[in-house]
Amino acid sequence: MNIGDFYFMKFKQQIVFRKESDDKKSEILVLFVTSTLLNKKKTAHWEGVSKEFKNHFKSEESLVGAFKELTFFRGINFKGYQHILIAGLGESQKITHESLREISGKVIKTVKSFKIFTIDFDLNSALHFYNDTDNKKAALQALTEGILLGQYESSLFKSKKEEKEFQIFFLGSKSQSDLFSLIIKKVSLIAETINFSRYLGDAPANKMTPRDLAHQTRKAASKTGLKVSIKGKEWIKKEKMEAFLSVAKGSSEPPQFIIMEYRGTSSTKKPICLVGKGLTFDSGGISIKPSQSMEEMKYDMCGGANVIGAMLVIAQLKLKINAIGFVPATENMPGPAATKPGDIVEARNGKTIEINNTDAEGRLILADALSYASSKKPICIIDMATLTGAMSVALGNIYTGFFTKNEDLSKRIFKAAELSGEKVWQMPLCEAHLDDIKGSFGDLSNISSGKGAGSSIGAAFLEQFVDEDIPWAHFDIAGTAWNTSNRLSYCPKGATGVMIRTLVEFAKSFENK
Ligand code: BES
Ligand code: ZN
Ligand code: ZN
Repeated sequence: MNIGDFYFMKFKQQIVFRKESDDKKSEILVLFVTSTLLNKKKTAHWEGVSKEFKNHFKSEESLVGAFKELTFFRGINFKGYQHILIAGLGESQKITHESLREISGKVIKTVKSFKIFTIDFDLNSALHFYNDTDNKKAALQALTEGILLGQYESSLFKSKKEEKEFQIFFLGSKSQSDLFSLIIKKVSLIAETINFSRYLGDAPANKMTPRDLAHQTRKAASKTGLKVSIKGKEWIKKEKMEAFLSVAKGSSEPPQFIIMEYRGTSSTKKPICLVGKGLTFDSGGISIKPSQSMEEMKYDMCGGANVIGAMLVIAQLKLKINAIGFVPATENMPGPAATKPGDIVEARNGKTIEINNTDAEGRLILADALSYASSKKPICIIDMATLTGAMSVALGNIYTGFFTKNEDLSKRIFKAAELSGEKVWQMPLCEAHLDDIKGSFGDLSNISSGKGAGSSIGAAFLEQFVDEDIPWAHFDIAGTAWNTSNRLSYCPKGATGVMIRTLVEFAKSFENK
């Protein structure tokens, strides 16, 4: 099977705004109800649902509107709809944008499993409790995200694929039409791109080599205004990226250095730089990993995939900033030419590194990429990587840990995450972490001489390759880049595209500055 030409456009998904007065009807109507306490008993609250539906369904006593409660009326043939689905939002004062994402993700998955392909969503019942426009807009965004992210599934590698496409409609009033259509369009673009990044992550390592990743990036970026340059081994050598090359040495697949440039404002304005770890497979190299769960190491390029996704969104939203994305991409394999524990290499910035564990390879490829990004004299550098197993031990798969010594960046990241709804947690990074990675023979060792704080040590190592005056932050997405269980209904098993939404909000914070 060749998936070389399977790219971005495949993820085009559409939600169309339709006036509720319209005669056209889909197969199913989705209505939302909240939950309230009446005489100490949980009951469904039908505010926002139009009278005819309310009167017809309110006698259903088992339906209490609890969060994520779905009640399906199959073949009911009511008011032009074959089926009706009533989705519980829970108590109105507890509803958050995240809960809207969760519920709409669950709805779409359920409807899909019923083999129903045309769906109307009743917006009034989902959004009526938002009084101010900003909140309503954000809630609509969350609902849209939940649907579009929730219906992604990586069936690409199954021999039988679902060919039928969804047709999703949002029903609202005539006065909402222009504003809501615009929001839906923007959010669809973001969600499609996130799904593209998820696909890059879910693709197995034999179908997503560094060259495949570069090829997919180039294809996806066409017509977005992004300039993509793919650099090969000779260029990497010329740039003196020996740390990056030391990781690629054990593999027969050539490394690629992907550069994505976006110009959205005057060329005199400094860019923001995004750097992503693009390990298309991490076997550990000579310090080989145990075989249990090794197959998950196809996801070791998710930092890269998510940077690619963020750059694609930034360009398509035409943000008024300049931005450059860098993704060093390689495999980490054992082999006759592979780096051996104890080998010493000189990174691009002249620092020498003793490679005492070839499995701590992410920091090696990022070292050279961060040094290269520094040469662009950016406003700031953000890197994203599945860097350390210790990160998922520390925070699990809900919060993404980030590291920075720069207060302004930290504030922007928290603000961006608040807007995106993704959860972040600032992790410690101080001089003491550096003490543990002093080399015995080279300047630095790529692993710690001490115990514990593995993620902070990884961050301290990376910091050595960012020019001192450049604000820098590092996201360790080792725990959140992919899900092994269906914890979030809009983001089931597989790659998550985590932090793309946050990076985009972060990038927006530099507009018009
Ligand atoms: N890609 C791994 C980190 C990883 C492991 C991410 C499991 C997600 C799940 C990284 O290259 C690695 O192997 N790191 C080592 C570093 C250690 C040798 C200092 C680790 O975490 O064990
Ligand atoms: Zn590794
Ligand atoms: Zn790795």
